[in-house]
Order: sequence, then C-alpha cells, then structure tokens
Amino acid sequence: MSSQPAPDRPTAERVKILTGATRIVSASTKPQMKVPFLDLKAHHAPLIDQFDRVIRKVIESSSFAGGPFVEEFEEEFAAYCGSLYSIGVGNGTDALWLTLVALGIGPGDEVITVPNTFFATAEAITYCRAQPVFVDVDEETFTMNPAELENSLTQKTKAIIPVHLFGQPADMDAILEFARAHGLFVIEDAAQAHGAEYKGRKAGTLGDAGCFSFYPGKNLGAFGEAGAVVTNDAELREKIQVLRDHGQARKYYHTLVGWNCRMDGIQAAILSIKLRHLEEANLLRRERALQYNQAFGGTDAIATPFEADYARHVYHVYAIRVQERDEVRRYLEQKGIGCAVHYPVPIHLQEACRDLGYRAGAFPIAEKLAEEFLSLPIFPELTEEQTEYVARCVSEVTGMEALV
Ligand SMILES: Cc1ncc(COP(=O)(O)O)c(C=O)c1O
Repeated sequence: MSSQPAPDRPTAERVKILTGATRIVSASTKPQMKVPFLDLKAHHAPLIDQFDRVIRKVIESSSFAGGPFVEEFEEEFAAYCGSLYSIGVGNGTDALWLTLVALGIGPGDEVITVPNTFFATAEAITYCRAQPVFVDVDEETFTMNPAELENSLTQKTKAIIPVHLFGQPADMDAILEFARAHGLFVIEDAAQAHGAEYKGRKAGTLGDAGCFSFYPGKNLGAFGEAGAVVTNDAELREKIQVLRDHGQARKYYHTLVGWNCRMDGIQAAILSIKLRHLEEANLLRRERALQYNQAFGGTDAIATPFEADYARHVYHVYAIRVQERDEVRRYLEQKGIGCAVHYPVPIHLQEACRDLGYRAGAFPIAEKLAEEFLSLPIFPELTEEQTEYVARCVSEVTGMEALV
C-alpha cells in the first residue's frame, strides 16, 4: 500500500529537497494541471482527415504488406535523410537485426555497443548469435565514448553500433575513424533520432547503415510497428530487401533464408503523411527543451541535457539528472505530471544478459545515469504553460525554489 497522500488532498507536505534538508512545502498536492508524458492524440488530431483518406486508399488497393505505399515512403524517407536508399521493415529491432545479418555478422563475432540503450540494440546482436561487447558512454552526451573503443577491440570484433540516444547523435567522426582503422562496420542505431544532425548530416547516414524505429511514440511514429534501414550501399540494400521477405528475390524463389520483416502498407501511408510534419515537430521539441534548460539553468540540483557542438538534438527524450530521482518522480506524478525513466537497468546488468559475465561497476557512467535520469514530458504539442508548470514542480521538489 502506498503511504503517499491522496493526489488531491490539499495539505502541507514534507518534501525532502536535494540539498539534504527537509522543508515544509505548503503547496497543495492537488495538481494544478495534467501534463501527460506524451500526447499522441493531440499530435494526430489535425491530420485525422488525411489519415482517413489514405487508409481508405490502402484498403481500396489492397496493398497491405509491402507494395506501392511502402515504396513511396522508402523514397521519401531516403530523400529526407539524404541517403540513396531506405528499406521499410517491420520495426526498429528488425532493422538492426537484418542489417547485422546482411553484413554477415554471426556466431563467433563481437559487436561493440553501449549499455545505456533500449534492450533491442543488444538483443539484435544476440539474435544473430554474435556477442554484444559494451563500452561506457560520455558523461555529457550520454552516447558512446570513442576513447573506450580500443579497450574492447578483439580479433573477433566485426562492427560497432553507436546509439544516438534521446535524439542526440554520437561522436561519429571519432567512431568512424576507429572503425576504418580496424576494418569494422558501423551501424547507427537511430531509433530515437529522426531528423537529428551530426555536423549538418542526418543521423543514420554516416555509417554503413542507419536503423530507425517508427514505434508510435517516436519522433516519427506509425500507427503500429514499423522500422527502416537507410544506406548508400546498393548491395546491402538488396540483401536486406531479400532477407525481409523470407529470402525471396522473386515470389516463391528463395535465394536466402530470411524472415518475415516486411513493412505494412497502412503504416507506410501514415508515415508518408507524418514525415511532412517531422521538421516542424522537431523544432517545437527543441523550443520546449530550451525552455526547460532556461528554467533549470544555473542550479546544481539538476543537470540538463547537453547539446554537443556537432549536434542538432531532436529531443525524443528530455532527461534531466537528479539525485533521489524516484522521490522526485513520485512528487511530479502527484502533481499530475507524467514522467519516465530511460532506462532503470543498464543492459549489462539485465538478468537476461547474465551470461555475458559483466558485473556492477563495469560501466560507472552508464550505471550512474541509470540511477539519476528522469525523463520529463516533451512532445510538439506541449504548451509553454505546461512546460513552465513542470519546471516549477521540479524546482519545488529539488529545492531550487522554496514555496513556503
Ligand atoms: C535505441 C533503440 N533501439 C532500437 C529500438 C527498437 O525499435 P522497435 O521497438 O521499433 O523494434 C528502440 C525502440 O524503442 C530504441 O529506442
């Protein structure tokens, strides 16, 4: 049973602030407004007629699995990214897995990635029976620290998967230089970085391939599961196209053993519409992130996300770092604010990865981030007023501002 006061009980409440003191905060616990973590309904509302029309078109043409709507979206997404090809697949995990398989990565091979990512990054490596090898991340960008790569390199290393976490590209020049020097493939996990840029080039287009997820909550999200690989390599493209469709180059003639990882026509048609609004949505995310940064600026209690010189961050996630994160989260939830933690357990410490033999302490930065990260609401329709309310509530509970 929770010992928290009922969310709507107007009462004085003790809030332990992060300077270590305990202060009486006389603010009512009654939420002044509701701020969801994400509001897809608001995002889709202005486009609903277009969605209706295009779904009708898909139904009328019966192009449900693969087909012309997928081909059209593939062309549009490749053009948007500035890459020669894009291959639509079933989801972001398929995109990673198919790319690894198409590059010939398999049993006995090692693939270097980071432990602070969604599980799918490492899962895809394991699923082609290769071994994930982790390196720690940079404390400021939360992405792969290229200086750590040398220590993890072995004769078995075949590829590197940097993750553009939360919408910020990893330090790609340094990673690519290391990869070239050692003959390794670079597969970008751009599942959270649609439209993000590294030195003016779109995330996902810098390595051998870039893998995207269009899970509904992503910056570019479908109405179900979908994903894509982008690449400039015609041979790789062809192999992924064959593998995603049971290894058949033409119907019922199988040149490879693949799997069923095709993109749906309806998802592609929806994504084509939403792609036209991605730039504007990313700009709105950046505006809200800036507003949070300004509200939290200059306090030691909260570390705000850092945008690297080389990056255009698209804030799929806006994660602050705070001490006593779970307490702060509980307080915000009482105030009607949706929060999340990305991710509470780094992959090397997940139960499913026990066989890999890592122990706590192996990646101190990733482990510290897992304890401190708190993701605040960020989405294009988040209003200035809502952002200000969230910032004010964070300030109350972290002691930045006394509300006595
Ligand atoms: C970093 C990262 N990689 C891979 C994936 C997997 O994508 P999907 O859920 O579409 O399979 C995700 C999805 O959340 C992700 O965030």
